[in-house]
Amino acid sequence: MEIEIVSIESADLKPVPKEFGFGNVFANRMFSQHYSPDKGWHNAKIGPYEPFSLYPATAVLHYAQEIFEGTKAYRRPDGNINLFRPWENMKRFNNSARRMAMPAVDEESHLEAILQLIAIEHEWVPDAPGSLYIRPAMIASDPALGVHASDTYIHFVILGPVGSYFKEGFNPVPVYISDTYRRAVIGGTGDAKTGGNYAASLFVGEEAKTKGYSQVLWLDAIEGRYVEEVGAMNICFVYEGKKLVTPPLSGSILPGITRNSVLRMAADLGYEVAEEPVDVQEMLAGVQSGKVSEVFGCGTAAVIAPVGKFGYKDEEHVINNYDVGPVAQRLYQELTDIQFGRKEDPYGWTQMIEVK
Ligand SMILES: Cc1ncc(COP(=O)(O)O)c(C=O)c1O
Repeated sequence: MEIEIVSIESADLKPVPKEFGFGNVFANRMFSQHYSPDKGWHNAKIGPYEPFSLYPATAVLHYAQEIFEGTKAYRRPDGNINLFRPWENMKRFNNSARRMAMPAVDEESHLEAILQLIAIEHEWVPDAPGSLYIRPAMIASDPALGVHASDTYIHFVILGPVGSYFKEGFNPVPVYISDTYRRAVIGGTGDAKTGGNYAASLFVGEEAKTKGYSQVLWLDAIEGRYVEEVGAMNICFVYEGKKLVTPPLSGSILPGITRNSVLRMAADLGYEVAEEPVDVQEMLAGVQSGKVSEVFGCGTAAVIAPVGKFGYKDEEHVINNYDVGPVAQRLYQELTDIQFGRKEDPYGWTQMIEVK
């Protein structure tokens, strides 16, 4: 792919801020390219981070034909930059594209565009514990109404420095289990990373917030019995400090890259590991008895997020005395050590960008 690099006057470049939260500050440049049936992907460029000009009839604004990804760049102790399994995000982007009737992008070129963008914007990768969040996305751009797949698309990548995903930092978070509403159904779009899944979850997310919870844990849509995943994370349960269980990839949950990494790493650290259905009532009884010794979410944004309590049907179930458990602590340490290049990566999960 030929990428045009658009120059920006230095007076128009924002300085890298010293303080940032999560997802509210963006680097000066973005990658974008366009798709049309006659030209395929074209007009690839790295240019200023700036607004799109879209007609009010644009397809994505009405029918939500949209996909996205999320990965991060980490500052290594030697000053270079690590990406973590980015090729998995490229693959999942195309899986989401297929499900949403959108054109695939060339995975190698997509990654190459991200590498080039970060090489130019390397100053925006903060020091640990912060990181640079990378958000690739694709939107349907036909300026016309009508429920059918768009002919034209915009693919873009934006970047922004991020700190902790939760205000709690690496501390337990309270999680609300929705008894009434469901996120996704097998055969639906739950295993694609598409905006509609998240839009449909916001109502319950707000309800959870008013009750003092920071995330929602979703149950399966058929029986409302089996645990699926949290809003932006997969979920893991530790039994008696020894066995780590996470729900299987049923088709209605997102196949998380952190989840996959945790499964591999936990097995190598000597824990018994299983992908098994988790019955919510049995799990809560296990929390009560102490058999479920830890619960944590895992995902790119928070890496590992210990769960301090569940709220379900107006009852609270406190986990591990609301403390960070040893398994979550160890996995967080091991995983972030590899991501930040503090430790040798025995899995070949990191891709380094040399800063010249
Ligand atoms: C719904 C959902 N589940 C799970 C995850 C975790 O996936 P990953 O570990 O690839 O970030 C995410 C975040 O991307 C998500 O949005």
